[in-house]
Amino acid sequence: MAPMIPFIALVALLASAQDTALSIIPRPVQLTRRTGSFGVTAGTVIVTDRATRQIGYQLADWLNPATGYRLSVVASPGQAARTITLGLDTTLARLGEEGYRLSVTPTRITIRAYRPAGVFYGVETLRQLLPADIFRDAPVTGVTWSAPAVEIEDRPRFQWRGAHLDVSRSFMPKEFVKKYIDLLALHKLNRFHWHLTDDQGWRLEIRKYPRLTSVGAWRKQSLVGVQHRYADTTQWVYDNIPHGGFYTQADAREIVAYATARFITVVPEIEMPGHAQAAIAAYPWLGNMGQQLEVLTHWGVDANILNPSDSVIHFMQDVLTEVLAIFPSHWIHTGGDEAIKDQWKVSPVAQARIKELGLKDENALQSWMTAQMSQWLVSHGRALIGWDEILEGGTEGLAPNAVVMSWRGMEGGIAAAQAGHDVVMTPTSNTYFDYYQSQDAAHEPLAIGGFLPIDTVYAFEPVPASLDSAQAKRVLGTQGQIWTEYQRTPKNVEYMVFPRLIALAEVAWTPREQRNFADFSARLATHVVRLGILDVNYRPLARTVSGAAGGGAR
Ligand code: ACM
Repeated sequence: MAPMIPFIALVALLASAQDTALSIIPRPVQLTRRTGSFGVTAGTVIVTDRATRQIGYQLADWLNPATGYRLSVVASPGQAARTITLGLDTTLARLGEEGYRLSVTPTRITIRAYRPAGVFYGVETLRQLLPADIFRDAPVTGVTWSAPAVEIEDRPRFQWRGAHLDVSRSFMPKEFVKKYIDLLALHKLNRFHWHLTDDQGWRLEIRKYPRLTSVGAWRKQSLVGVQHRYADTTQWVYDNIPHGGFYTQADAREIVAYATARFITVVPEIEMPGHAQAAIAAYPWLGNMGQQLEVLTHWGVDANILNPSDSVIHFMQDVLTEVLAIFPSHWIHTGGDEAIKDQWKVSPVAQARIKELGLKDENALQSWMTAQMSQWLVSHGRALIGWDEILEGGTEGLAPNAVVMSWRGMEGGIAAAQAGHDVVMTPTSNTYFDYYQSQDAAHEPLAIGGFLPIDTVYAFEPVPASLDSAQAKRVLGTQGQIWTEYQRTPKNVEYMVFPRLIALAEVAWTPREQRNFADFSARLATHVVRLGILDVNYRPLARTVSGAAGGGAR
């Protein structure tokens, strides 16, 4: 049998080379190449069951512009010689809510899944099996629209595969938000964390409190350059250009519907008690110092935070009442990061509250506020998610279903998982895409600092070794962050996010033991042709450098 061994090795080698040639990202769990291919023609028919009809229409819409074919979507194949069949299959329960089977033969493509989300992901994989020109928005001639024959069985490793977008520091137009959602879906990401409020702008219409947007959505100017390089604030330079914008509730509903059709949950973030200066500028009684503040025009961590009175808590619950009516997400993000407590130390309202509740200190007061919000969210059938600072004053009163987003390293997430809370791992060291992609910062667009090359993103392991198996199950997944102090335009955001988010998408989807950076890089080299066609301003791969540890100070 000895002579067989090199032959088997050769077959394995060829198979893996073909896998790479297929360039599917994130890499499917199981992929077997068969002989031949399926050619999509004008006569191809899309057959669906009732549950996957909309996905069938979506596929027809995706295939139309480049091929020029308007494929019919039908309930039964009739006489059609070539079919693309979508459907649910209860025997595939083992693949979970998002897994799927995709079979391509010369005459049939079949995508089956336990749930519609899985069928959708099968369709996304199918798009990546076709020539890259399928992503073009107008008919392309001279291309044979064929997909190689394959058998794929696939399912995600994690249920939370997210991407965040800060629209407060730099307002992002609705059209870009949709493009971003499309790009998330292409990479099988399923959570869009929409950072809607911060010191520098409040971006969501709240009907009961119109000043949140009439005042809070606009700032008179923005700081130019990286302010933390200048200790002397008199050296700060402003652009003298007003900046603002907000989403009406109808806009936000449109985004939610757009995301839902792509199996993405929109998780809105309403920051409290810190990062709230835009709200305090709109309604000064929300603050501690009785001052009329302006919407903040520079970046950084600000001392102005909400006061912990009953009226502020009711105000925020009123805001969340409108938020819940727009966003069906189970998780509602209430921020909680970087809330400096100096004002609470001198505020009679805050000190009286600490005394009344017998709290240890101001951190415990933040925890109490967070607990109020988490219990309120539970009573409305939802769950609070917050940055890891929500743990700092203890977890007493925090609803058991509250989720922690661990950004200051993994420790907050480990503590939360050990305390029985679900966790999303978002450490700066591996998931902050506002960090530089090169150590040669002089030749990169301005960024906040840090260094996070793509291989460091790819090497990220969301489940810490220190967790036991029950605690490890608390790790829902991971998510990439893009803060926009220095990313002022959609093109700038795209440059910072891509291709690093694609590496993180594979971390979130593909089994750990199947991750291989060289293999990923080879697939990515093909994949960026698709990104180019989709007009994504990704950072060119040739420029990707590495070698140093990731992370760095924000
Ligand atoms: C954060 O980066 N302040 C969550």
